[in-house]
Amino acid sequence: MKEQLLALKKACLEAISKADRLSNLQEIEVKYIGRKGELTNILRGVKDLSDAEKPVIGKLSNEVKNELEAEFKAKAHALETAELNNKLKDDTFDITVPGPDVKPGHIHPLSQVQNEVEKIFSSMGFMIMDGPEVESEYYNFEGLNIPAWHPARDMQDTFFIKDKKDKKHGRMVLRTQTSPVQLRTMEKYGAPLRVIVPGRTFRYEATDVSHDTTFYQVEGFMIDKDISISHLKGVLAQFLSKLFGKEVTVRIRPGYFPFVEPGLEVDFSCLLCGGKGCRVCKHTGWVEFMGAGMIHENVLKAGGIDPKKWQGWAFGFGLTRLVMMRHGIDDIRLILGGDLRFINQF
Ligand code: PHE
Repeated sequence: MKEQLLALKKACLEAISKADRLSNLQEIEVKYIGRKGELTNILRGVKDLSDAEKPVIGKLSNEVKNELEAEFKAKAHALETAELNNKLKDDTFDITVPGPDVKPGHIHPLSQVQNEVEKIFSSMGFMIMDGPEVESEYYNFEGLNIPAWHPARDMQDTFFIKDKKDKKHGRMVLRTQTSPVQLRTMEKYGAPLRVIVPGRTFRYEATDVSHDTTFYQVEGFMIDKDISISHLKGVLAQFLSKLFGKEVTVRIRPGYFPFVEPGLEVDFSCLLCGGKGCRVCKHTGWVEFMGAGMIHENVLKAGGIDPKKWQGWAFGFGLTRLVMMRHGIDDIRLILGGDLRFINQF
């Protein structure tokens, strides 16, 4: 039986070395060491061997089987590699074919206008500040002269964050305005200051063509000795004419915001309809552009600035609305809607 096994091994090794295709190799494997193959056939005789021979033949047959299996594996690998290499030889790769069309992204119209606003104000010596979008009631309201009982709280419908309350700072809110950064900047740097704060703001609004729950504002303020509303007019005239590249008509009306005194509303002529009246300007020809005014002394005090020594103005406008004006967009919901057919136009 030993001879039979060794003969089988020899024959099988020879067959393996002659195999030139994977399918061929598999047939050989089945024939010699498959479940119904020759090895199994030979081992049928083991039961007739003497007890002394049984373990010797058992061991040998295992060795033969293991050796052949290893051989099959190695040959299969070699054949596969050869077949792959052959395939590659016939493949041609044309490196001159242009690649798939890569569509680069671009800057969102909101960011484009924000960049321009920042550039213009930087050129006038304003620094650009940032503040948290989840803000405390203190910075968003109290510190800005709007205590909890004040009816002016109703001017800004607010998203409150559940379960967060701090003794001094109150509940947490999604900031309804960028004005809290006035206080944060005063606390951090003191006077004098020239600052703009572009940023995202939130209100609990029913949405329509001119209201959204998320929008962008730009706060601006200037604090120094002897700062007056005429400086505000000058800065705004400069800013708007640089931004639009032409003269825009501005009107100033009295307005009310608890953190300024006196308070102002600044409007400019609707660029979409040229003052004739349309959906965006609610058929008045004027677009309410911003709130402004001289910073209330309570706010200066809250920011750690002495109102006897320093004074200044502040304004806040909707960056989102400015983008709409700029591009003649008549529905605010398009701006953050994420519709590429809209976005790709800019
Ligand atoms: N924060 C005000 C608003 O969102 C705008 C404003 C800013 C008014 C600064 C006056 C001064 O309505």
